[in-house]
Amino acid sequence: MGILEVSNVNKAFGGLKALNEVNLSVEEGTVHAIIGPNGAGKSTLLNCFVGRLIPDTGSVMFDGRSLLGIKPHQINQAGVARVFQTPEIFTELTILENVMIPAFAKYDGAFRINAWQSVASRGEIRDKAESVLSEVGLIEEKDGLVSSMSRGDKRRLEMAMCLVQDPKLLLLDEPTAGMSRADTNNTVDLLQRVGTNITKVVIEHDMHVVFSLADYITVLAQGTPIAGGKPADIKGNPKVQEAYLGGSHL
Ligand SMILES: Nc1ncnc2c1ncn2[C@@H]1O[C@H](COP(=O)(O)OP(=O)(O)O)[C@@H](O)[C@H]1O
Ligand SMILES: [Mg+2]
Repeated sequence: MGILEVSNVNKAFGGLKALNEVNLSVEEGTVHAIIGPNGAGKSTLLNCFVGRLIPDTGSVMFDGRSLLGIKPHQINQAGVARVFQTPEIFTELTILENVMIPAFAKYDGAFRINAWQSVASRGEIRDKAESVLSEVGLIEEKDGLVSSMSRGDKRRLEMAMCLVQDPKLLLLDEPTAGMSRADTNNTVDLLQRVGTNITKVVIEHDMHVVFSLADYITVLAQGTPIAGGKPADIKGNPKVQEAYLGGSHL
């Protein structure tokens, strides 16, 4: 039983079957990539994991609990964080303050549920925020303003804002979309280094990004998983090459 179990999921938009009998199991502690050409249904599937869409049929189970019909913020509190679609970054605040905000939100939620426990002190939250800033390589810049950050550093900040919530599952939505080769390499390096104990699901169009990142790859084409396996197996799979326009993307 994986930490995320998707069974027989179907989703249609009018006459268009965006997801067709999707089954997949994400094993705890692994990096699982879901790849496929444009229009394959990747975003639709991801939206079913975060409560933005409800499948027409089938089930999505996270950590033994159904995610269907649960509100996005409740899914987040259950331990699922969506990276790069993070809560708003406040450009007037410092980098450290931006990381403390989601940490406060997390403690506050826990406080409401466990009213007998005292809310964590500001000092504890600051320590936690500083430790994730060290992890992503931004600790030296912690008192700087977000408005002066480079694009690559903003990615690091977004990652820190997710890590500070101690998620069990990180969903990464096309982490290198629109980036230069250098920024792409930096981001892949960051993803390999941080949160190594956290299960990650990476949705990606660019196959090269996931080959170095993923333990397991599911290939989606026209709403259906057509292949699954280790990167080396996926690379040479003729069905995958065909889905990617006769192999020109490999
Ligand atoms: N809200 C929607 N309404 C109608 N059609 C949609 C909607 N969202 C996605 N689609 C269609 O579903 C298919 C899968 O889309 P999507 O999940 O965005 O693919 P991907 O992320 O793999 O590029 C596409 O044909 C797309 O046009
Ligand atoms: Mg998409």
